[in-house]
Amino acid sequence: MVTPRLPQERPTPQSSSLQGISPQGPSLQRASPQGISPQGSSPQGSSPQGSSPQGSSPQSQPQLRLPEQNQHEQNQPKHRLSQSALDIPRSGIRDVFDRVDAVPDAISLCVGEPSDTAAPHIVEAACASMRNGQTKYTNILGIEEFRTAVARYSAEVKGLRYDPRAEIQAVDGATMGLFLALKTVVGPGDEVIIPSPFFTSYDAEVMLCGADVITVPLRAQHHMQLNADDIERAITPRTKAVILNSPGNPSGAVTPAEELRRIAAVCIRHDIWAISDEVYHPYVFGSAANPVVPSAQANPVVPPPQEAALTAAMPAAPSIAGIPGMKERTIVVESLSKTFAMTGWRIGYLLAPDAVIEQTAKIAELMHSSVNATAQYGAVAALTGPRDHIESMRRHYDHNRSIVLNALRETNGLNAIDPQGAFYAFVDIRRTGMDSETFSTRLLHDEHVAVVPGNAFGAVGEGFIRLSYAGDTQELTEAMMRLRRFAATHTPPVFARHTRAFHPVEMMA
Ligand SMILES: Cc1ncc(COP(=O)(O)O)c(C=O)c1O
Repeated sequence: MVTPRLPQERPTPQSSSLQGISPQGPSLQRASPQGISPQGSSPQGSSPQGSSPQGSSPQSQPQLRLPEQNQHEQNQPKHRLSQSALDIPRSGIRDVFDRVDAVPDAISLCVGEPSDTAAPHIVEAACASMRNGQTKYTNILGIEEFRTAVARYSAEVKGLRYDPRAEIQAVDGATMGLFLALKTVVGPGDEVIIPSPFFTSYDAEVMLCGADVITVPLRAQHHMQLNADDIERAITPRTKAVILNSPGNPSGAVTPAEELRRIAAVCIRHDIWAISDEVYHPYVFGSAANPVVPSAQANPVVPPPQEAALTAAMPAAPSIAGIPGMKERTIVVESLSKTFAMTGWRIGYLLAPDAVIEQTAKIAELMHSSVNATAQYGAVAALTGPRDHIESMRRHYDHNRSIVLNALRETNGLNAIDPQGAFYAFVDIRRTGMDSETFSTRLLHDEHVAVVPGNAFGAVGEGFIRLSYAGDTQELTEAMMRLRRFAATHTPPVFARHTRAFHPVEMMA
C-alpha cells in the first residue's frame, strides 16, 4: 500500500517560473467583478470603496482627492500586511451579494444553500446537549458519537469504510476541511490541479498554502464532468494533488463511476492525492440518481449485504475513495451544510488515512482547538436519524430543476448544461453578446433577478451565469419568466441557417 508523500518529502522546486501557468496558459487570475488582480490590488486599494472615483483614471486621482481621503489612505496599514494575505483573491460571490443587497425586492438565485432549515429532531438534540451541559471543548477529532455516526453514515450511503478512532475528523464545515486537507498535503513548489469552473474557495486556499494552481477546463462535450485525460495531461513532476468535486458547483455535473475509475487510475499512476469534495452527494437526479457504485467484487470497502441494502435506499453520487487503491490516497471532504440544511451550524468532516488525520488534527488544534460541541451533538442526530428530510429536499430540487430546464429550453439565446446534481444550473449566455458581468448586472437592474456571473468561478466561467434553484418554487418560476423576457429582448434574432450552431455542446467545444 503506497501512500502519497506528505509535504516534507517533496523535492525542493528548482524554479518558480511556472507559477500559475496552466497547460492552457496563465491560470491563477480569477476574474473578479471588480477586476481585482491577485497581485495585491486589494479592495482597500486606492479608494475607500476599492474602486477609482467614477470617471477618473488611477493616474488622475491625486488631483481629485479630498484631504480626508488622503488621510484615509495614510491610515491604511497595507504596507504592514503580509504579501500572502494580499495575494489571495477576494471571492467574487461577496461582490455579488453586496450588489444584490442594494436591490431589496430582487429575487435572488444566488444562494448556495438549502432554503430549508435543519429538521426538528436535529435542533432538539443540539438544544438538549446544551441543557445537559455538554458544552466543553471536545476531542480535536470530534466527539466519539459524532465519529461513529459519520463512519456508519459513510458506510451506509457511500459504501466507504473508515475507522472512527483514527480516520475521521470533525471540522468547521467543508471550507475548513479543504484547507486542512490542502495544508497537510501541499506546500510551496507543489502544484494542485483544479478543474475549472470551480467552487470559489479552491484557488485561494491552494494559494494560501503557497502552492500553485493549475486549472483544467471542464468541457461541455463531457457535460462539464471531470475527465481523466484532461487531468493526466496537466500533471507535471510538481503535481501533488487534484481537487475533485462531484456533484459540482457551479456546473451541477456528476462524474460517472466509470470516469472516476479512470481518474483513480491516473492518481495511482502518478502518485498524487485526490481531494474529493462531496458536499452535494445526496443531490443527484435522472440517471445519476442510480449510480453504479464501484463494483463489489473489485472493491474491498463495499459494505456487507445488509448495509448495501441501506445504500440503495438513498441515492448518492459515487465516491472515488471507494475505488480499490484510492482510500490511501484520497481525502474526502464532507459537510452537513447542504445535506442536512445546516449551513450556519458549521459542521463537516474529513475521511482520510490515519497518517493524514494525524496532521490535519495537529493543524486544526491551532486553528480552532475543537469544533463547536453543540453542532456536533446536532450532527449526531442528523447522521443517525431519519433521512426523509434529505429525500424531500432532493425531490424539491429535482422539481425546481425541471422548471429551470423547461424555461431554458424555450428561451432563445440561453443554454444550460443539464445539471445532474447539486442545485445549480450553469447557463451559457454567450448568444446574448454580453459578458457574464454585464448580463448579471443588467438582469438585476432591469428585472430584479440576481444570479452569479460565471467568471466568479474562474476564467473558464466567463460567458455563463450560475443560478441556484434551491429556493421557493413559485419565486423560481417568476424569476425564470423574467430571465426569459430579459434574454428575449437582448438576444439577436436567430436565422434558420444558424440554428444548429447554437447547440450548447458545439458552442462550448
Ligand atoms: C463545492 C463546495 N464545497 C464546499 C462548500 C463549503 O461548505 P461548508 O458550508 O461545509 O463550508 C461549498 C459551499 O457552497 C461548496 O459549494
